[in-house]
Amino acid sequence: MIESDGPPVRIGVIGVGFMGRQHAGFVRAAHGARLAAVADPARDRTAEHASGSVTLECPWYPDATAMLDAEPLDGVIIANPNALHVDTAIQCLEAGVAVLLEKPIAVDYAQSLRLVRAVSRREGRLLVGHHRRHHPATARARDAIRSGMLGELVAVSGMWSARKEDRYFTSAA
Ligand SMILES: NC(=O)c1ccc[n+]([C@@H]2O[C@H](COP(=O)([O-])OP(=O)(O)OC[C@H]3O[C@@H](n4cnc5c(N)ncnc54)[C@H](O)[C@@H]3O)[C@@H](O)[C@H]2O)c1
Repeated sequence: MIESDGPPVRIGVIGVGFMGRQHAGFVRAAHGARLAAVADPARDRTAEHASGSVTLECPWYPDATAMLDAEPLDGVIIANPNALHVDTAIQCLEAGVAVLLEKPIAVDYAQSLRLVRAVSRREGRLLVGHHRRHHPATARARDAIRSGMLGELVAVSGMWSARKEDRYFTSAA
């Protein structure tokens, strides 16, 4: 939840496929945030989807450059293909926009270092979308460890198992 008494935080979404549409829906539902624009070369992705996803109802741009040029944004959510993550994130940081970047951060270690250095150089704000780090179950596990309930940990072998709805596995051809 975004807590703000000021004007809504203006957020753009780059890549509105499966994940981007989910992000767009959460932005639209969030108090204090506004879905300002989306960027995706596939314009039909912004139309209402037969699977029941959100109708985006905001300006569309064919790429991040056009969106950043035209829209004053406070932040972007990047959900485009993995190989584009680093270049897109650096472009947004250079535009002075805060970035939530879908995982993975990059396709290899060298690229991820390039992004980390860009963040430092520009004193930018970037968060990689490892959302389960912020899940209540993770917080409970952390609290249990910190409280000593489990004794002194010497190693952890963890697994997160969850059932996904059947439609998750249906290819959107
Ligand atoms: N699907 C998942 O469950 C899941 C989970 C975690 C992370 N992610 C990550 O989210 C990202 C997106 O995954 P997805 O499943 O939504 O993929 P997707 O293929 O459904 O969507 C990607 C979108 O990016 C668009 N795109 C391509 N080139 C672009 C460009 N130059 N600028 C802007 N948009 C462009 C495509 O047109 C498409 O709409 C990936 O990095 C993926 O690893 C996905």
